[in-house]
Amino acid sequence: MKIIRVQNQIEGGQVAFSLLKDEMAKGAKTLGLATGSTPLAFYDEIRKSDLDFSDMTSVNLDEYVGLAADNDQSYHYFMQENLFRAKSFKESFLPNGLASDLQEETRRYDQVIAEHPIDFQILGIGHNGHIGFNEPGTSFDVTTHVVNLTEDTIKANSRFFDSIDDVPKQAISMGIQSIMQSKMIVLMAYGQGKADAIKQMIEGPVTEDLPASVLQKHPNVVVIVDEAAASALD
Ligand code: GLP
Repeated sequence: MKIIRVQNQIEGGQVAFSLLKDEMAKGAKTLGLATGSTPLAFYDEIRKSDLDFSDMTSVNLDEYVGLAADNDQSYHYFMQENLFRAKSFKESFLPNGLASDLQEETRRYDQVIAEHPIDFQILGIGHNGHIGFNEPGTSFDVTTHVVNLTEDTIKANSRFFDSIDDVPKQAISMGIQSIMQSKMIVLMAYGQGKADAIKQMIEGPVTEDLPASVLQKHPNVVVIVDEAAASALD
């Protein structure tokens, strides 16, 4: 893992954007995209740029179960507002959280990933070390799956909702196996709240109890952290 320390999220977004530009210049065609507050500055950089995405494909990590695409808490809506409204992609994929058959939807999404191998994957990290919505205890071998969100994640994500009761209890997430197949992974983390997860991800054992620790086994990972997120590292 290569670790890049930055002053703040804005600089982190600039660094991630410059990595993306390099990879696109080298032929990257498919981006794995993430939601949450962490990648916002990265999306700002993309929106401000004149980089052309009309030949690019995007595949998102996850979506809540039960939220329609036009619900302002859905990840469809997030991507529309923060990126797709400003930049047109050739094709963009997200799991359908309203699918009537969720198992069938996970198979469809696996097919999407198989047909569009990810060149450049953006990741944030949960306080408990989750990536996408792969919660602690998730097998490293799973592909797309339906997740029961942990109390910790529901609480953390409730800041975006009117009330904690409005936070969906389930999500559809790309699996760890699929994330690990990305050619390059850029994980960003900012703030003290992420310090422990970052320490365990980088310095702890590779264990399903801390899903992000699997990244130690990937040959091409860049971790972008601010001082607070890096504060527990030896
Ligand atoms: C959610 C998302 C993750 C994200 C994490 C951290 O649970 N599914 O993809 O990395 O939250 O969110 P934030 O970036 O807001 O701290």
